[in-house]
Amino acid sequence: MSKTIQKNSGYKKYVVSTKLQYFKTHATKIEKTFAEELSSSMNSDLKFINPKFFYDKKGSDLFEKICTLPEYYPTRTEITILKQLQDELASYLDGNFRLVELGSGTSVKTRLILDILSKLQDNTEYFPIDISEILTESSEQLLKDYDDLHITGIIDTYEGGLEFLKNFDDKKNLIIFLGSSFGNFSPNAGYKFLQKINSMMKSDDLFLIGLDLVKDKLILESAYNDSQGVTAEFNLNILSRINDELDADFHLKDFSHRAIYNVKEQRIEMYLKSLVNQSVIISKSDLVLNLKKDELILTEHSHKYRLSQINELLEHAGFEIKHTWLDDNKHFSLTLASKKSDLCT
Ligand code: AVI
Repeated sequence: MSKTIQKNSGYKKYVVSTKLQYFKTHATKIEKTFAEELSSSMNSDLKFINPKFFYDKKGSDLFEKICTLPEYYPTRTEITILKQLQDELASYLDGNFRLVELGSGTSVKTRLILDILSKLQDNTEYFPIDISEILTESSEQLLKDYDDLHITGIIDTYEGGLEFLKNFDDKKNLIIFLGSSFGNFSPNAGYKFLQKINSMMKSDDLFLIGLDLVKDKLILESAYNDSQGVTAEFNLNILSRINDELDADFHLKDFSHRAIYNVKEQRIEMYLKSLVNQSVIISKSDLVLNLKKDELILTEHSHKYRLSQINELLEHAGFEIKHTWLDDNKHFSLTLASKKSDLCT
């Protein structure tokens, strides 16, 4: 693969072909953040690892596998809704839209939206934003299947990618944030993130967000405690990543996966439980971690929503809701919104 490399305000630009380019943030920036974040989040009473660190290559592959599990209903349900809303979504997409995706590797879902856009316009631009380089693989496959597609991948955090996009050009963007990934933010960070998206949107941009809904505890807990143990492997893989990248000595056999639904907080809480009293060194974070037997490390919150809460949240963050689509069981939702015009505020 031939690459021309240019430096450009904190990003390296890789031009792979006339149809494919990437902007990648300087790697040291991400590594430093990982080490720094852990040195504070693992040094408090409730130890915590930010779930964004799940997604190295292996973690991203494991997550793809989770999405196909019988117990993990969100992916297939969202796909069902996306298949049903094709014509209705098309009716909102007048003119030439660029598809901007927060996250990538969601190839089936991306394709369903690209199918709509390519029926409506001659050329389609796709900007996936993802911290993981998995997007380089999925992009090449997409180009094989869509003749008129141009891809600009942004390898960075969502916030970094959105900032990058802010002054890019005047083209209309359809920004998608699927899979209820929003549910992994804390309510406060989530609200700020929505405001961030809203602040970079132009008046004719659109935002499509997929959110998981409150439902029976049993359905929720089985989705995060699958019978094949893939979610457990995904959870434990974060420790392997810390071992590899931050020079740590976690023994994975001394931890177990735990996922419970907290009804009051409307969220799945995922933990790694220490099975013994132990000390672990994380060299690059300058940390010696003392863990008691049964002590929990929080690795993820996955919030579930009521429709009224989704409306409130989006409106409060400056959006105007255009449409909400649900599946027959009301397990999952897709909401299309635009930036509230100044006249309405
Ligand atoms: C990416 N995110 C929306 C998933 C979720 O359901 O919260 C991550 C996940 N964790 C365990 N299984 C899936």
